[in-house]
Amino acid sequence: MNKKSLLSGKDTQIGENNNNIIMAIESSCDETACAVVRNGREVLANVVASQIKTHAKYGGVIPEVAAREHLETINIVIQEALEQANLKPIEIDAFAGTVGPGLVGCLLVGLNAAKTMALIYDKPFIGINHLNAHISANYLNTDLKPPFIALLVSGGHTQIINVKSNSETVIMGETIDDAVGEAYDKVARLMGLPYPGGATLDKLAREGNPNAFKLPEAKVDGYNFSFSGLKTAVLRLTKSFDGKELPINDICASFQECVSSTLIKKVKKALDETGYKQAVIAGGVAANSEIRRKMFELEKNGIRVNAPEMKFCTDNAAMVASCAYFFTNSFDDINVEVFSRVKSLK
Ligand code: KG4
Ligand code: ZN
Repeated sequence: MNKKSLLSGKDTQIGENNNNIIMAIESSCDETACAVVRNGREVLANVVASQIKTHAKYGGVIPEVAAREHLETINIVIQEALEQANLKPIEIDAFAGTVGPGLVGCLLVGLNAAKTMALIYDKPFIGINHLNAHISANYLNTDLKPPFIALLVSGGHTQIINVKSNSETVIMGETIDDAVGEAYDKVARLMGLPYPGGATLDKLAREGNPNAFKLPEAKVDGYNFSFSGLKTAVLRLTKSFDGKELPINDICASFQECVSSTLIKKVKKALDETGYKQAVIAGGVAANSEIRRKMFELEKNGIRVNAPEMKFCTDNAAMVASCAYFFTNSFDDINVEVFSRVKSLK
């Protein structure tokens, strides 16, 4: 794709079949991240500063606090990424930043840093959709190409996406209430686990019996999901112990079994409908051991399954740089404004 440098208007070819080094910045929630990636797949630098410790005190992300912390950290992560990659900014071909969805104050910090770098070094600016970026994490260190079905599971989103090509993605279904990561964090919280509870819940679930409690699976049409009823069922279950010690591991395992089997059923349905032979998982919850295990079981049916390395599942900027290289439906206007909610996958 032809992209214009911001000041001189010089043309640069960016994307598949070109040799490009892209620097990307991600700050949509509580990670300040900068990465440098060659040709969408080779990670030259990957720096992530997590704010989890700050927000754990409050049991959730406080947007204003997060935005201020991004501001304090952004220059440090950019500097560190350049050092890791052993490159000067002028050697970068384009600068990418996350436009949305995410927390507005947080997005503004990273996006403006990416725009500023592009302006100073007279290179193209590429604005990226955070959800496409999560999908692109599957391109890092692999040779994967569309078409495939993507199961996107994060703290804010749960979607089944038909990735027809790098220019055409269709959301087949999504959650009508809580996102999977949100359900994990809420269930973890009501069992007294520290924030963010997803990874801890996953760890405890591995020690428990997944068949100990039968939890209700929401019957939602098509490819949509609902997890708020499940969360309420876990709440009711914990209350039924009436102050007695909770069998936490068994509750975690039963919850995890219910969530993972619901997700995989719909992935299978999407594979059947499209006839695709490839499926990927993306988003912070893609780090989940049972969801990964069930996804990889699909290989027995002749499906090629890909899951990003753990460090590329949760928010990072390498996936943003990869997206800037491969996906053609980016926001390249320097005046593009951040957005908090997803309207389309553009
Ligand atoms: O993609 P992400 O870093 O941020 C968003 O864009 O939302 O996802 C964060 C979410 C949190 O809800 C966290 O609890 C969840 O991913 N998570 C997990 C695991 N690791 C992170 N959930 C279940 N099992 C895990 N192993
Ligand atoms: Zn994310």
